[in-house]
Amino acid sequence: MKSPGIHARLLVTGFLVISLTAFTLGTIGVKMFHDFAQNRFAERFEFLARYLALNSELGILIDQRSMLNQLANNLLAEEDVARVLIFNNADETLAEASKLIPRPYATVEAPVRLKASSEESQAFLWVFPSPLTGEPLDIIGKVRIIYSTSQINRLLKTITVRYLWFTAGLAALCLVIFFFISRSLVFPLTRLAQTARKVGAGELQLRMMPGNIPETREVSLAFNAMLDSLERGRKAVEKANQEMARQNLLAEMGKFSMMIAHEIKNPLGIIKSSFDLLKKDPADPSNSILIGYIEEEIQRINSLIEDFLSFAKPAKPSFRVVDANGMLRDCIDRFCRMDTAGDIEFKGHIPEISCLSYLDPDLFRRAIDNILKNAVEACRGFGVIFVDAVCMEDTWRVDIADDGCGIQENMVSKIFNPFVTTRAKGTGLGLAYTAQVISAHSGTISVENRNPTGARFKIEIPREPKMIDLFDADGVKE
Ligand SMILES: Nc1ncnc2c1ncn2[C@@H]1O[C@H](COP(=O)(O)OP(=O)(O)OP(=O)(O)O)[C@@H](O)[C@H]1O
Ligand SMILES: [Mg+2]
Repeated sequence: MKSPGIHARLLVTGFLVISLTAFTLGTIGVKMFHDFAQNRFAERFEFLARYLALNSELGILIDQRSMLNQLANNLLAEEDVARVLIFNNADETLAEASKLIPRPYATVEAPVRLKASSEESQAFLWVFPSPLTGEPLDIIGKVRIIYSTSQINRLLKTITVRYLWFTAGLAALCLVIFFFISRSLVFPLTRLAQTARKVGAGELQLRMMPGNIPETREVSLAFNAMLDSLERGRKAVEKANQEMARQNLLAEMGKFSMMIAHEIKNPLGIIKSSFDLLKKDPADPSNSILIGYIEEEIQRINSLIEDFLSFAKPAKPSFRVVDANGMLRDCIDRFCRMDTAGDIEFKGHIPEISCLSYLDPDLFRRAIDNILKNAVEACRGFGVIFVDAVCMEDTWRVDIADDGCGIQENMVSKIFNPFVTTRAKGTGLGLAYTAQVISAHSGTISVENRNPTGARFKIEIPREPKMIDLFDADGVKE
């Protein structure tokens, strides 16, 4: 069975404590009030009895019954008094008065004594011997008051009910407050568990809302700091892995390619000189077709080698402060003038204001050219290329998107690796070179496919020189 959570435990405990306290205090309070009210009520009639006894002394002494009756009737006018009786020493009823009021009844009696100070009273002392001993007595009779307790009982009942309602209401209010306090304590813990589970499931960007309670806020902030640090660590490892894979590939590739490059360079020289000879007899028509093929091939091998050499042994960037926006506009203008652009339309927004950044314009132009060339090729002679630039305080951002064929899904993560190509005549070095240049500028490049078709490249480079100075010519941090 699932054991109850903190919230349930707190609630049950709170409920028990509050109910018990309310019940105990309520009972004690009601009991105390009952005793107090009843005592006060009884005291009133005891006082009336004493008062009647005092006034009855003379009536009993001289056996004046009409006077005693008058006194009894006077007292009967008092509220809650049901019956008044006055007796002499021999328990004989001297006066009586009664009225009909609701039950239950209670009785109070008071002795009628001779006043010790009064001389007239003392004179009567021997007239009232004790019925038991025959000795003279100072008690000459008694009065009895029978009164109704129905009113005080009703009042006590009403007050008790009100008191109990009030206590129950207070307990309910406490419970509601307790519920919210307990929930506000438990909620961050539940959120923490949920967030931890989601982060574990891959939503690495999720973070906790700190909240207002200092302790849980502290836990949330500590949790967020831990996630940030894990994220930084993960990215660093990822980057290091990528870099290691790239370095391995480059190292392997470098060994072979330098050799191949040199091997091709020499025959190329020979072909070139033969070709020059062939050109001297242009009258032969078959020669001119041949010459065309040879020229084309030489051109292709040459640009392959140039590309490769510039990638395998990149030129040391020579950084200077240039207007990045202006440089980008130049790239596009140059591209538009080229035949390769075909029926391609360039759109987007490059701000007119200059965005001074610290970069190598020659390297950067070639890097951008490679992306534009790919975009033109993807459009297959017809389409739109969007180029947008944003100049931020410390970063310059460029988006280059096209509505061409898009990148094959399995290629998206690989296209910045060298020799990855889907084109028959491609070398697969264009984007590898571009990535190298961006990295040498301490920037980032990423790619995604667009909906419904086409690809988008995003480049971000820092505008500040201090960041870039830390990098050497290969874009490797010193
Ligand atoms: N805008 C784009 N749209 C679709 N696919 C693209 C785009 N840009 C690059 N690619 C894919 O990435 C691959 C690698 O591009 P990269 O520029 O590195 O080499 P390439 O264009 O094939 O050859 P080259 O060295 O002549 O540039 C391309 O072959 C192509 O499949
Ligand atoms: Mg290319």
